[in-house]
Amino acid sequence: MKRGSRRWARSLLATDLDGTLLGDDSSLARLNAWIDRQRSSLLLAYVTGRNLASVLALIHEAGLLVPDVIVSGVGTGIHFHPDWADDPSWQLKLIEGWHHRRVKEVAERFDALAMQPGSHQGPFKSSWWLPPGQAQATMAALARALAAEGLRVRMVYSSRRDLDLVPAAASKGSAVRHVARLLGIPSARILACGDSGNDRELLTMGTPAAMVANAQQELADLPRDVYRCATPYASGILEALGYFGWLGHGGPPHAIPGRTV
Ligand code: GLC
Ligand code: MG
Repeated sequence: MKRGSRRWARSLLATDLDGTLLGDDSSLARLNAWIDRQRSSLLLAYVTGRNLASVLALIHEAGLLVPDVIVSGVGTGIHFHPDWADDPSWQLKLIEGWHHRRVKEVAERFDALAMQPGSHQGPFKSSWWLPPGQAQATMAALARALAAEGLRVRMVYSSRRDLDLVPAAASKGSAVRHVARLLGIPSARILACGDSGNDRELLTMGTPAAMVANAQQELADLPRDVYRCATPYASGILEALGYFGWLGHGGPPHAIPGRTV
């Protein structure tokens, strides 16, 4: 994708994949048909815990729309269409103070943590499984142990199972903000959608945001300005687009050229 191209009136739909965009094929088809009609002014970002290879395989297998941007590994990778190379300006922000091996060594001390398979690990993401009953105490002790080693790490717990340890600067939200800065998209023109713990920063980065009706209980405490959809999955995204007034024109209504607020 050419940065700086299509600079006029562009908006960005930044959506999580599993449990948000994916989950109901018929509403996904309706949403995709709508997105397809808006492609000249609406950019599409998939913002996910999956790694790049897994997202590309999924796009192929499930016949998803090819997005303009993929934010992978819970905000640890940014990849632009069409070459999907890791955005170097984002990697540069994450590399400082990140010591993957030392983070892993600290996590290994905790019996409650089981390492996820190698295919789920990333250069800036150490991923573990953690049973919900042990989550609170383990995360508190892990935070202390990491701090004692001088390691600045963000802990992201999702779906009562997944614990991702990533650089403090990394999250789905900070990565999408970086994308928005690179592309010159103001926050009012970004709609963020999600369903689980790793979407917390995405949904609270100060843009229009919505959680689908099937969202995990772990997001129940999000601020009230995050729209609570009455419907699940892609149907919830369509509902949120309607709620924020985007359905007619693929972006916030007050930003239509020639219109005043
Ligand atoms: C995806 C990733 C996994 C991560 C989870 C939650 O399933 O593959 O590693 O823990 O998302 O972010
Ligand atoms: Mg999800």
